[in-house]
Amino acid sequence: MTQNHPPILLPENEAKMMLSEATAALAYSHAPVSGFRVGAALLAADGEIVRGCNVESPSVLQVFCAERVALLKALSEGLREFTHLAVVAEQRDPVQPCGLCRQMLMEFAPDLIVITRLADGSPRQIPLADYLPESFRL
Ligand code: THU
Repeated sequence: MTQNHPPILLPENEAKMMLSEATAALAYSHAPVSGFRVGAALLAADGEIVRGCNVESPSVLQVFCAERVALLKALSEGLREFTHLAVVAEQRDPVQPCGLCRQMLMEFAPDLIVITRLADGSPRQIPLADYLPESFRL
């Protein structure tokens, strides 16, 4: 797949800071169904960081992932360009963004770098395009 800009990895200290932002967001997770708490932090091209947590609504059988909450918050504030997304959950292994989030993130930020947390706490940075190769584009 072709990309407009080469994805840029953040320096380790900045990637860790993004993980901290995502961890702070996780505190507000509302997950009465799964009990699985997730936090995300989206870095816009202008340097703004927008946080999100997962929200579950049993009454309407809807689940909103932390990544999409962060993305929708940012979009609804007029932000349109994003470079990095950190996502964390309370597990040793890095959390894997769901298919729906991968597709929607790809729509708005095809060059995004996804930052997850390895078991030793260090950041792992992988292009979104690696999570969703040959992706559908309108
Ligand atoms: N979840 C996220 O928020 N992000 C992910 O990357 C994986 C899954 C949420 C959705 C749901 O509230 C719970 O985790 C269990 O799937």
